[in-house]
Formats: sequence, C-alpha cells, structure tokens
Amino acid sequence: MELTIRPASDADRADLGRMAAGLVRLHHALDARRFFLIEPIEDGYGRWLAREARNPRAVVLVAVAGDAIVGYVYGALIERDWSMLLDACAALHDIWVDDAARRTGVARKLAEAFLARMTERGAPRVVLSTAATNEPAQRFFDALGFRRTMVEMTREL
Ligand SMILES: CC(C)(COP(=O)(O)OP(=O)(O)OC[C@H]1O[C@@H](n2cnc3c(N)ncnc32)[C@H](O)[C@@H]1OP(=O)(O)O)[C@@H](O)C(=O)NCCC(=O)NCCS
Repeated sequence: MELTIRPASDADRADLGRMAAGLVRLHHALDARRFFLIEPIEDGYGRWLAREARNPRAVVLVAVAGDAIVGYVYGALIERDWSMLLDACAALHDIWVDDAARRTGVARKLAEAFLARMTERGAPRVVLSTAATNEPAQRFFDALGFRRTMVEMTREL
C-alpha cells in the first residue's frame, strides 16, 4: 500500500492522541515507577501534538497508508543545555508505528523525513532517549546510524 508522510494537522488530533497514548502505555508497562501514566491520556496528548504541529520549532509528521494514519514522529529544536553539555540541536521525542504496519519501513520513512526537516532548519545533530529495556527501538535507531551517548539511571527515594 502506498505510504505518504505529511505534516500533521488539527484534523489528525484523535489519531495522534491514540498513538501517543500507545507510546505512553508502552513506557509505563516497561517501568511504571519511572514512566508515569495519568489517565485519561488520549485527549490531552492529541491536543498537545496538534498544537505542536503549529509550533515553528517543532516537527510533527504522520504516516498515511491508504486513508489510515499508521504512525507519527514528533520532535523539536532545543536550545543549548549547559548542564547536559548539549549544544542547540534537534530532539526526537516520539516515534510510533501501529503494530500491523511494523517492519515495513514506515518508521524509517518517518525518521528520514523528520531528519531532513531538521537539517533544513540548521540543526547540527539530533538526540533522543529510549527506555533502557526498549530493545526494538534501540535496534531501530542503531539501524538509522544513531550512536549511544547517555545512560539515564534512576533510584527510588
Ligand atoms: C520502533 C518502531 C518505531 C519501529 O517501527 P517500524 O516501522 O517497525 O521500523 P522499520 O520497519 O522502519 O525498521 C527499520 C529497521 O529498523 C530495525 N528494526 C525495526 N524494528 C525492529 C525490531 N523490532 N527488532 C529489531 N530491529 C528492528 C531493522 O533494522 C529494520 O530494518 P529491516 O526491517 O529491514 O530489518 C516501532 O517498533 C514502534 O512503534 N515501537 C513502539 C514505540 C517505540 O518504542 N518508539 C520508540 C521510542 S520513542
């Protein structure tokens, strides 16, 4: 089926909320103490991503197969962060592909379109984080040429 990658719009709010909620639930299931889940989540994330789609410093793209939205990517330009020793760059916050569409190259196309847009905006690099136990995501980012640069550690108090 033909796949189109296009900027998200307000009309995509429900799909964005559904997919972002999938990402939130996945992280909560991986480590419920580290990744909070405050219900209800679909509406709030859908509204947030639709608003970010209008933010000139953010990029929100959706993948459309036929007439169904099957994935999205979201990230933004971020300022220099002295505490992280991280110069101004692009941050990739979310990427999601629905189960049925996985391993068909959808996320690769979303990520490449995201990286192209951030390159056009002058970002010298892109950074992202994945949950330590999210191995499929790490394999995916490995395949796209990302290298490991930080390890977040957590201890409850
Ligand atoms: C990670 C994710 C976005 C990958 O989406 P996808 O559309 O299936 O990925 P692609 O088909 O574009 O894969 C491109 C390459 O990445 C690697 N890859 C992707 N998924 C993989 C997996 N589950 N295991 C191993 N390698 C994987 C492979 O090298 C793959 O190429 P190949 O299929 O030719 O071997 C998808 O599994 C997903 O939505 N996961 C849940 C959300 C998530 O974890 N997001 C990342 C954290 S923000």
